[in-house]
Amino acid sequence: MSAGDFDHPDVVLVPHGPMLLRGAESVQDTDGTVHRVERPVVALCRCEKSSRMPWCDGTHKVIPRGAPRT
Ligand code: FES
Repeated sequence: MSAGDFDHPDVVLVPHGPMLLRGAESVQDTDGTVHRVERPVVALCRCEKSSRMPWCDGTHKVIPRGAPRT
């Protein structure tokens, strides 16, 4: 299955975690850079602490809940 198998992206918000995006062909980050999506499902960082923005790198798992975003 590839990203092209979907008519539109599906979004799943993981509680205290990333946004899972299925079926997207690209993601535009806050700087306006467009990232090509090569996987059927990608995880986008919502905690803003990832070292691989816009992708989730798992850092959210070690951040205390309620910690301020920078
Ligand atoms: S949501 Fe996973 S690192 Fe930010």
